[in-house]
Amino acid sequence: MKRIGILTGGGDAPGLNAVIRAAVKTAINEYQCEVVGIRDGYDGFLDLENGSLPLDMAAVSGILARGGTILGAANRGNPYARKVIRDGKEITIDVSDEIVKGIERRKLDALLVLGGDGTLHIAHELALKGVPIIGVPKTIDNDIGGTEITFGFDTALNIATEALDRLHTTAESHHRVIAIELMGRDAGFIALNAGISGGADVILIPEIPFKFESVLKKIQSRNDQGRKFSLIAVSEGAKALGGEQVYSRQGDEVYVPRLGGVGQTVAEYIERSGFESRVTVLGHVQRGGTPTAFDRWLATRYGAAAVRLAARQGFDRMVALQCGEIVDLPLDEALAIPKRVNLQGDAMITARNIGISFGDE
Ligand code: F6P
Repeated sequence: MKRIGILTGGGDAPGLNAVIRAAVKTAINEYQCEVVGIRDGYDGFLDLENGSLPLDMAAVSGILARGGTILGAANRGNPYARKVIRDGKEITIDVSDEIVKGIERRKLDALLVLGGDGTLHIAHELALKGVPIIGVPKTIDNDIGGTEITFGFDTALNIATEALDRLHTTAESHHRVIAIELMGRDAGFIALNAGISGGADVILIPEIPFKFESVLKKIQSRNDQGRKFSLIAVSEGAKALGGEQVYSRQGDEVYVPRLGGVGQTVAEYIERSGFESRVTVLGHVQRGGTPTAFDRWLATRYGAAAVRLAARQGFDRMVALQCGEIVDLPLDEALAIPKRVNLQGDAMITARNIGISFGDE
């Protein structure tokens, strides 16, 4: 193994730089291997001149605690669906063969792809075209199968919990209902875990379609018991029973729909029912800034393990955390079943035991 590439695709997540740093150090220390960073996800392969940068020890010095990614990311960088202007018209084309050529020209013995579901699906497709891919699971949503946890999730969870703590005091002072809209497109882990950790009274997640009347019932019953305030943790991907997810912008074949607005919808319903309400949308605050110690620890282990896997030529595979140990498994196996909140799991049972409503009763 002489030369490996690293790219970060999709939305950023705290810990990306920690993975890059660990991979570079392991590649140089253990394998005397050169490392190349690819800029802006797969897009970097389309620009032979400026699409990459050398990653040596100096390049990764001081980045362990830094949020974002020093390589840049692109969540519109799907090589299989790229919008271009041809003869004055916008069309969608497949540039995957150009990407494969770009990878070959850089003479990489392995390509580490740090990404979520979308980026890793593309990685698997490229692996089928012969690219020596190693996947590293990243997303604050924690929705990738085959691994107990993705890096970035713990940081987002801590930020969301702190926000709930802060909203708690102001909600209580003003006798208000406050809904906090949290990230979580199809999986409700951030809202569930932060809701439990931050004392939410109602948690709404994509896995459980909710009824407005049921949310109101919980708030009314707290009110009747003298608890004049309530906190609602809502995943951005939650939807009402029989309804749709709430989008702030529709999607197309290149852009996924942009979620946003369900927190506002819930807060407005509660206010119309007689309880003064407010909404906070935490948004990208959950993705930015320094990773927690846990995420740095996990990201570092993933980065080093990904390079060891590359040295064994374990291509088209992904590193993962299972029972506290780093393992690896085929990418298609990891991606076959996306991870969702286990509705029969102990976290859900515990939440219900302590009186949290999921808007389904
Ligand atoms: O996948 C992580 C995530 O945070 C989702 O929860 C959210 O829908 C999405 O990213 C938003 O990404 P962006 O605003 O960067 O398109």
